Amino acid sequence: MIEEEIYFANLKASRLGMPLINADTVDSTNKLLLDKATQGLKEGALAVAETQTAGRGRHNRTWHSPSGLNLYFSLLLWPKVPTTRFPQLAMISAMALRNAILEEIPELNVKLKWPNDLWLDERKLSGILCECTPEEVEGRRGIVLGIGLNVNSQMNDFPQELHNIATSLRWKTGQETSRERLLAIFCNQFQEIYDRWQDSESLATFLPEWRKYDALADRIITVDTPTGKLTGPVMGYTDTGIMLLKTNDGVKSISAGDVHVSREEGGERRG
Ligand code: BTN
Repeated sequence: MIEEEIYFANLKASRLGMPLINADTVDSTNKLLLDKATQGLKEGALAVAETQTAGRGRHNRTWHSPSGLNLYFSLLLWPKVPTTRFPQLAMISAMALRNAILEEIPELNVKLKWPNDLWLDERKLSGILCECTPEEVEGRRGIVLGIGLNVNSQMNDFPQELHNIATSLRWKTGQETSRERLLAIFCNQFQEIYDRWQDSESLATFLPEWRKYDALADRIITVDTPTGKLTGPVMGYTDTGIMLLKTNDGVKSISAGDVHVSREEGGERRG
């Protein structure tokens, strides 16, 4: 389990990252917090596990969770903004996580892959799964932000099918990174960006930073949407976090989907 003394020594956030539920084995930290949310658990509660037996990924995938190496955690939020803005939290949390990693390892070229992955050398370093509470509590919906970050796992810790698509901080740097410090620094970074986001109307003021580290800029991508595949160059993102894709049938607005990079786009960066 994570060392709580190191975690709390680095936690500067005043509202988020506590209480800490520091577990050994759980099915899913997201599920754990969603269950407790309906019993009235407060904003800021953080669940972290050494391993998950049924870690949930996006699009009904499972999240590979080898024990004791990486970070698998979930943060409970009760945002004051309308639920229509909740999907924007995916981008906000990816930016906060990127900042946290860079605070520990400044030289890493970590990229943001819409809507909520972190990429390093074109491989997945982290995935984020945001899940809404199934019902309102005291008139409000909650949201659980679940993050899997590959910290100290090495190639052999990943199953063969992930060898070409996943990476970890250790795999890249050859060094171990403190999970406790990273987790606390994420909470510090996230509280700052979350407060700014709640006080703003949209993502407008965050988009310049997103564009700076956008893994999909100048790329031709294919998105699996609920209504089929769409291919084309990424044109940019709206203030509400919707991706604009230039397809043969015109510009399409994509609010969710599984993104695959097809090839490089030669010309100028758009967006
Ligand atoms: C993705 O598919 O990219 C999202 C993966 C999210 C995994 C994390 S691990 C901690 C939290 N608990 C879960 O069951 N899932 C998220």
